[in-house]
Amino acid sequence: MPSLTSDRVLKHPGSSKSDERIVDTKLNIPENNRRPLIALLNARLADTIDMQTQAKFAHWNVKGEDFYQLHLLFDSISEHLLEAVDLIAERITALGGRANGTARQAVAYSSIKEYDLNVLHGMDHVRALLDRLATVTNAGREAIKQCAVLGDDATADVFTEVVRAGDKDIYFLQSHLQGGITKYGR
Ligand SMILES: [Fe+2]
Repeated sequence: MPSLTSDRVLKHPGSSKSDERIVDTKLNIPENNRRPLIALLNARLADTIDMQTQAKFAHWNVKGEDFYQLHLLFDSISEHLLEAVDLIAERITALGGRANGTARQAVAYSSIKEYDLNVLHGMDHVRALLDRLATVTNAGREAIKQCAVLGDDATADVFTEVVRAGDKDIYFLQSHLQGGITKYGR
């Protein structure tokens, strides 16, 4: 997870003075704070779009004896991520920024790794999704702290909502791998 001052965040499209389009707003948040907030939101937006497509990939391609319940679970995770995408993107525009949410932008700036395309069996999909969703959600948790530094409780609240949903889906995924289910190991 890049820190607020890392190259990845600072170089994110829209984050530099030279190429960022930022519009006026009546919000009483100084532009010097809005710029890093917009960069932070755009970084997490890229992750979340990438993650949402990976959950759909798992929804479509899962096989095995647990097919149907995992097919439904992965779709519900995808829906939660789509809601998060909209929340994050519209907070960017509320702050006067540009929501960098095309598929190509997401690919270019996502910090999560590509899905394991050869995964087939249900529990292997659970592990693959769990690994990546934890990366995305824990980055969101860091973003909450960064919002506090930048004095924006409302953006912190957006991230809190996103992280709370992510934590629940992590719990739903991880529960498949716990409780002494020796059949699947770990
Ligand atoms: Fe479907």
